[in-house]
Amino acid sequence: MSSHIVLEEPNVKPNTEDSGETATRRAFLAAAGAAGLCYTAALGYPIYRYLASPMEMASSATAITEVTLKDAQKLPIGSVLMFKFGTAPAMLIHHQDGTWVALTAVCTHLGCTVQYEPQANRIHCACHGGVYDARTGANVSGPPPKPLKLFKVAVNDTGVDVSHA
Ligand code: FES
Repeated sequence: MSSHIVLEEPNVKPNTEDSGETATRRAFLAAAGAAGLCYTAALGYPIYRYLASPMEMASSATAITEVTLKDAQKLPIGSVLMFKFGTAPAMLIHHQDGTWVALTAVCTHLGCTVQYEPQANRIHCACHGGVYDARTGANVSGPPPKPLKLFKVAVNDTGVDVSHA
């Protein structure tokens, strides 16, 4: 006697509710992945800037040794002129007592561009509240670990020469 086994095909019906759930799950995972990438980029970029800034500054420093700011001798007392020293932002300050100071404008904490605040006569970094002395570039308070770099300034009839001190 021979036995005969018949295998029935399973009754497969598309489950529209389940595929809707799967699509929702996929959409959620895609959104979570995109949010994760954004979060990683938001955390990673300041770290990259912190690590890259010294290299940029170094390469910039070797390429450029002096910048001439045409007509900057006319900068009013108590004001600031932002400029680029190579690739790095820098600032020229004409202080109330007539003295001139030029400094890098790159915060030594995580590389944000700092701003001169004439009312408080200080340099402030809005990123994390770092404060620098507007005459010496010394890091006065907040997270910056080092002072801003000072440049040498020479004022003449046609402009202001800024160079490495
Ligand atoms: S980047 Fe300037 S205080 Fe953090």
